Amino acid sequence: MSEENVPLAGVIGSPIAHSKSPRLHGHWLRTMGLPGHYIPMEVPSDKLEETLRLLPQLGFVGLNVTIPYKERVMEIADLITDRATIIGAANTLIFRRDGRIHADNTDGYGFIENIRQNVPDWDAKAGPAVVLGAGGASRAIVATLLDAGAPKVILTNRTRARADRLRDDLGQRIEVVDWLQAGNVLEDAAMVVNTTSLGMVGKPEMRVPLDGLRPGTVVNDLVYAPLETHFLRTAKEKGCRTVDGFGMLLHQAVPGFERWFGKRPVVDDALRRAVLG
Ligand code: ATR
Repeated sequence: MSEENVPLAGVIGSPIAHSKSPRLHGHWLRTMGLPGHYIPMEVPSDKLEETLRLLPQLGFVGLNVTIPYKERVMEIADLITDRATIIGAANTLIFRRDGRIHADNTDGYGFIENIRQNVPDWDAKAGPAVVLGAGGASRAIVATLLDAGAPKVILTNRTRARADRLRDDLGQRIEVVDWLQAGNVLEDAAMVVNTTSLGMVGKPEMRVPLDGLRPGTVVNDLVYAPLETHFLRTAKEKGCRTVDGFGMLLHQAVPGFERWFGKRPVVDDALRRAVLG
């Protein structure tokens, strides 16, 4: 393959310096011996559409999208997957040969693959899931759990109206409870997921009382900095099966890489080490 035909992909956002995606895709390209480059690009807001239309002409086959453009790229894209529509945001773009931009959201895929890799016998149908938070990440996770056959999702958010809206958008099998009641529904749960930013470095700790957690419950925190949050540590002490959020970050990158570079990559310890640095 001549250098001019080498596929290019990358990540756009602002700021972009802290994105882990270049390390992640760079590791896969290197270890799989594939031709290609993955480039982080800081794009100013007023140049977003122009950049997206130009990059395919320069040999780009697609992009990851990060803050603050995950919603805006949906207005520019020509085709949008159902899951991106439900979530209201896209994190993966595919530049098609016919010039059209295809937008997808792989957060739900990353979430479920992370759980499956860490808890191989996990079954979404086993019982109700409690989801803490009702932001963008929560939308992806609630939609994915319902798709996977969860009998019920109990949703709770500091701002209740946001949880009510999510229930109205995603339909039956979602029950909204008040944030201050969150501790009271944990004992019914087969799974509990924190989608809020609580517990992240620099943010307040999660204060939901966790006494009701039962041993064996699958407890997942989307936060990955730190890897072990107070929430996960408490759940582990109670005999829960805990899963941190780092694997979701790694798994959500798989579908894009496969589409752009033609081979399915694996998420293993070598990748974890490469990304953690
Ligand atoms: P993301 O796309 O990562 O989900 P987001 O849309 O900003 O980000 O959502 C952040 C989530 O964390 C929301 O559920 C938010 O609750 P509100 O809807 O009430 O804002 C939750 N969150 C952030 N800070 C919080 C805090 N101090 N206490 C409780 N919930 C908090």
